[in-house]
Amino acid sequence: MSVNIAMFQFKITDSEFSLFRTFIYDHVGINLSDEKKTLVSSRLGKRLRHYSLGSFQEYFDLIVASSHDGERQIAIDLLTTNETYFFREPKHFEFLKKEVLPKWKGVNTFKVWSAASSTGEEAYSIAMLLDDLLGHRPWEIFGSDISRRVLKTAQQGHYLQARIDGIPKAYLRKYCLKGVGEHEGTLLVNKKLRERVVFSPVNLKKLPKDLGFFDIIFLRNVLIYFDMKTKIHIIKQLMEKMHPESYLFIGHSESLKGIHDGLVTVIPTVYRKT
Ligand SMILES: C[S@@+](CC[C@H](N)C(=O)[O-])C[C@H]1O[C@@H](n2cnc3c(N)ncnc32)[C@H](O)[C@@H]1O
Repeated sequence: MSVNIAMFQFKITDSEFSLFRTFIYDHVGINLSDEKKTLVSSRLGKRLRHYSLGSFQEYFDLIVASSHDGERQIAIDLLTTNETYFFREPKHFEFLKKEVLPKWKGVNTFKVWSAASSTGEEAYSIAMLLDDLLGHRPWEIFGSDISRRVLKTAQQGHYLQARIDGIPKAYLRKYCLKGVGEHEGTLLVNKKLRERVVFSPVNLKKLPKDLGFFDIIFLRNVLIYFDMKTKIHIIKQLMEKMHPESYLFIGHSESLKGIHDGLVTVIPTVYRKT
């Protein structure tokens, strides 16, 4: 006899949802609309089960307790959306390849920041391009995200084969190792490339002072989660980390309308600092 057991869904009340909405807005900047109520209850419900709690209020009390920093981070990890893939939005990589890299005459290390890197596919896509096109000229890539869970995957550089469609064949051969045996169906970014990309947690709402300056910043598919006030704050801080003439890339469905003082549009979604 087969028994169908439906997973018990915790119900989140409006006032509980409001607590988490304020929490994620204050800590991360993400602006959760009312439609995200089901998403919040399904993503956090597993933590209620984990602690055998009876309500979202009890879970909220737990994450705000000062002794539960770790659980607070887990809640943040669960409430962020980390969708990404290699060579996402290929026009940006074409632009880098054709317009930026051939014209770069700097003598210092060419520095790129993937500022909401998620699991690292964006940073490694850029790394493949720089290694291929800059040859022996010095370059560095810094990848960061607020979610520590995704940064672990990023550091490992180990992905499911099903997720690698965007990687050009020549780069697959040059920079990736195909998993065999127990790793069948996976791909590992090679050590040489992994060693050149550094990942670390950074909250875009509160940038550390010692980040340095960048020639390129990728800030893609993250601004959509922020309201205007947070966007203005983040762009202003980011611009302080950009060299003159450096580039800022945002996602194709995002806009800096009304907030790009000091940045000129080069092509849609690519800006240059003046
Ligand atoms: C949809 S992913 C984008 C990944 C990649 N940039 C791309 O375009 O494919 C958005 C990422 O932004 C991160 N994020 C959200 N709010 C953040 C914040 N305040 N600081 C840093 N990262 C944040 C999330 O954790 C998530 O991994």
